[in-house]
Amino acid sequence: MRIDILTVLPELLESPLNHSIMKRAQSKGLLEVRLHHLRKWAVNEYGQVDDYQYGGGAGMVMMCEPLTKAIEELSKEIKYDEIIYLTPDGKPFDQKEANHLSLTENLLMICGHYKGIDERVREHFVTKEISIGDYVLSGGELAAAILVDAIGRLIPGVLNDETSALFDSFQDNLLAPPVYTRPADFRGWKVPDILLSGDPKKIEDWRHEQSLKRTEEKRPDLFNQDQ
Ligand code: 6GU
Repeated sequence: MRIDILTVLPELLESPLNHSIMKRAQSKGLLEVRLHHLRKWAVNEYGQVDDYQYGGGAGMVMMCEPLTKAIEELSKEIKYDEIIYLTPDGKPFDQKEANHLSLTENLLMICGHYKGIDERVREHFVTKEISIGDYVLSGGELAAAILVDAIGRLIPGVLNDETSALFDSFQDNLLAPPVYTRPADFRGWKVPDILLSGDPKKIEDWRHEQSLKRTEEKRPDLFNQDQ
């Protein structure tokens, strides 16, 4: 899978993409992430990519021209399945969307800054608008990093234990059950006996029960959601 990211702050994405599982996905050749500095398509020698907004008001807007040139140039090389604009007014990102996007081949993500991007770019190029939650970030970069992580770990072969993503929280609209590791007794705080029983069926039932209990306590809204 290939993900191209258009940004004015590639530095913000470098660290999250080059550690742990994202690093492994790339070194295994399962995921290729390319960062593109929008200034490469700036309108003048000062590297300008934003301008004042029509109608007045504080805050700059990312201009049509650099974004259009960038998208058109990148699209010549590769056919994107989706051109995603990261924005607080997009559709809230969830596991279902991550699953869907992990099945695509080529994605282009556009990170907005300042007041956002000129509406015409959204109308003419963007195929999907995604938000990562109801709060405002200073730019789309951290959101893009979150998408790449959530999507990248679902690509077959990326996780060591291939089945483990299947049991993540949210894969079945349930939160994951509690987990424990050694020692079985720490300061008198004991691991539930059932996990030490060696009975796989009982353990599976217990975990499912705990998942249901957790979801009911912490996120009852998940029970009413579509898969
Ligand atoms: Cl995707 N971008 C920005 N700038 N803020 C956000 C967001 C995205 N999602 C939630 N807040």
